[in-house]
Amino acid sequence: MMKLQKKNYLMGIENLIDYHQKLKLDDKNFKRLMFLYSMAIRELETKIEILKDEFKLFYEYDLIDHITTRIKEPKSIINKMEQRKISFTYQEMIKNINDIAGLRIICPLKRDIFTIKDLLKKWNGIEVLKEKDYVTHPKKSGYSSYHLLLKVPVTLSKNIIYVKVEVQIRTIAMDFWANLEHKMKYKPQEKITNEESNEWIYCAKMIHKLDHKMINLNE
Ligand code: GTP
Ligand code: MG
Repeated sequence: MMKLQKKNYLMGIENLIDYHQKLKLDDKNFKRLMFLYSMAIRELETKIEILKDEFKLFYEYDLIDHITTRIKEPKSIINKMEQRKISFTYQEMIKNINDIAGLRIICPLKRDIFTIKDLLKKWNGIEVLKEKDYVTHPKKSGYSSYHLLLKVPVTLSKNIIYVKVEVQIRTIAMDFWANLEHKMKYKPQEKITNEESNEWIYCAKMIHKLDHKMINLNE
């Protein structure tokens, strides 16, 4: 059996590729990096699928409705780095762009969000780097979701690489709102009027009420 090299154990993603090189979307380094982000998502998705099935089988409860994942488009990575005036090296990309790997957990009820985040936070070997509770404190836009930035280990032949994955946990109703609003507003290319913006906030408040009512109905 191959032994894990202690020296490389616990080191970051940056140790596999030339750290200070200029970021190029069409070179081997970029491909390899994106591979690592995909594998981190695969690891995490499997663990969450197991949780979903466990709750169904053992507790006859649908804790999770579904999971979606995505790797950020290279173009979007570049745009974000440009907007934030981050220099185009792999090092800076890895350090500053936290949502290259994204995973979303959609659940039926608001209280499920807190059950799920507590379970994820207890997982061995997975570290929480950041946590934002936009469920208790929605954003000004009305946006509501629970965000966790996780450090997920990916075991390779010679070392273990830790990869950042952004997890968003939200209800079906919150997801409905966020997906539509994102298309209309969150992308800065399309400016929307104040009036339209207020309408979205109004809708977010209705979603909030609906999620609250759903919990009461279920109890
Ligand atoms: P980025 O916006 O991703 O650079 O990160 P941040 O550090 O500002 O994090 P934040 O937690 O505020 O938002 C991260 C992600 O949450 C975004 O990429 C969106 O997917 C989602 N999000 C945040 N705010 C909104 C919003 O007002 N509307 C929608 N639809 N999504 C939002
Ligand atoms: Mg983002």
